[in-house]
Amino acid sequence: MNIQLLNQNIADAASDISLEYITTKELKKNKNKKALKLAGFDASADSICFLHNKQLLVCGVEELNAENVRSVSAIAVKALQKTNYKSANISIENMMLIPALVEGFVLGGYTYDRYKTKKSKTSLKDIALIYTKDDYKKAIKVFSDAVIVADATCFTRDIVNTTPEDLNPPSFAKLAKNLAKENGLGCTILNEKALKKENCTAMLAVGRASRHESQLIHLSYKPKNAKKKVNLIGKGLTYDSGGLSLKPGASMVTMKMDKAGACAVLGIIKAASEMKLDIEINAFIGAVENMIGGDAYKPDDVLVSRNGKTIEVRNTDAEGRLVLADVLDYAQDKVKADYMFDFATLTGACMVAVGQYTTGVMGHSSKLKHSFYNAASISGELTASLPFNKHLKKQIKSEIADICNISNKPYGGAITAGLFLDAFIKEENKDKWLHFDIAGSAYTETPWDVNVYGGTGAGVRFMSQFLKSL
Ligand code: BES
Ligand code: ZN
Ligand code: ZN
Repeated sequence: MNIQLLNQNIADAASDISLEYITTKELKKNKNKKALKLAGFDASADSICFLHNKQLLVCGVEELNAENVRSVSAIAVKALQKTNYKSANISIENMMLIPALVEGFVLGGYTYDRYKTKKSKTSLKDIALIYTKDDYKKAIKVFSDAVIVADATCFTRDIVNTTPEDLNPPSFAKLAKNLAKENGLGCTILNEKALKKENCTAMLAVGRASRHESQLIHLSYKPKNAKKKVNLIGKGLTYDSGGLSLKPGASMVTMKMDKAGACAVLGIIKAASEMKLDIEINAFIGAVENMIGGDAYKPDDVLVSRNGKTIEVRNTDAEGRLVLADVLDYAQDKVKADYMFDFATLTGACMVAVGQYTTGVMGHSSKLKHSFYNAASISGELTASLPFNKHLKKQIKSEIADICNISNKPYGGAITAGLFLDAFIKEENKDKWLHFDIAGSAYTETPWDVNVYGGTGAGVRFMSQFLKSL
């Protein structure tokens, strides 16, 4: 699907169908109110109505704002994809709504059919946004950034949706290498031999029973005159069986998505480089598969992490934090950054705490958390802050090692996981770091907002928005 922004002057209005967004209040004054009433359309949120004889698709919004426009656009595009219309257009005069429309159409219209023998077919090829105001040049920039971020989100979704057979640590490294080549990024890949040299023993332990070699992937985007440096770290469990603390059968399904943090990090560096942001970005990914076997790491093992701290393993399903412990430490040693953010499908507990739709945000700096909250609300992603405290920190103490990989109490699991990561953040970086738990928000089996079945691309939109705001 091709989406473009047209200036009113150059727009030939020759689309097969036009979209019109109206509020319940406006319905009473609408010139098609009779036909709309007959169709049972009340312009309530997320409702749509085709008036085929007028070549019109009317979309209901309670109030004309980005959030409502984004979500009804996703519904509209899905409905259009089922018709035989080849092109659609919409007139807009408010620049602020451009990203919401792009996100609704691109993300709502996303399909993943790599594993279908019959590929999904749709007649809809073109969507034109017709901008009716004068500052077209500014609008073009807003539009093209929105398209870049939406496309990067789809790129992230594609990788998340790829099966664990097709996307394992070595093939993940290959994919990252290709992205680096296409986008002119630096790329360093550490295989197991190199990881041993780097003393990434915790990360290596998690991947030991896998037939695929673990990989630490480092991509860098270094524009001239970069004003800031940002480190991004992603949990890349290409499959999480739970290891010897095996997951129950039902919980194992969808665990290909345990690489979503790493996929988000790739999407973000892709978007930042295509928007040509003047920020240096270093992305670090721990790509590992958590499996069972005679060689598997075990509950009762004590691992020596890269920074020298010892970790008592009491559950091999709390593996993400072990991988991240080493990758976080490696990232801090390699690049002294102004900010550092990690993305991870870390805990089921985060979903229990904030629901499936929201990303849990953890860290020490209230200021940083606040700026993220703002960036997230603009981007349309949901985030909620989960506060650290010293009492929860005691729950990950170990009797025999420096720290334990699980909590000794059943509550606050998302935060205790965040506090575990905190133990691997150097003192000077404490206020520069935030941890994003995307366990719930990264994947869905029921469509919601602009998300369809599968990977959602969580993190790409809010992080891109934050980077733009720097
Ligand atoms: N990858 C999972 C977390 C997860 C669960 C992500 C559900 C997405 C959906 C993680 O490695 C894990 O298994 N965590 C355990 C931690 C526990 C053993 C302390 C969990 O959440 O149950
Ligand atoms: Zn796990
Ligand atoms: Zn996991």
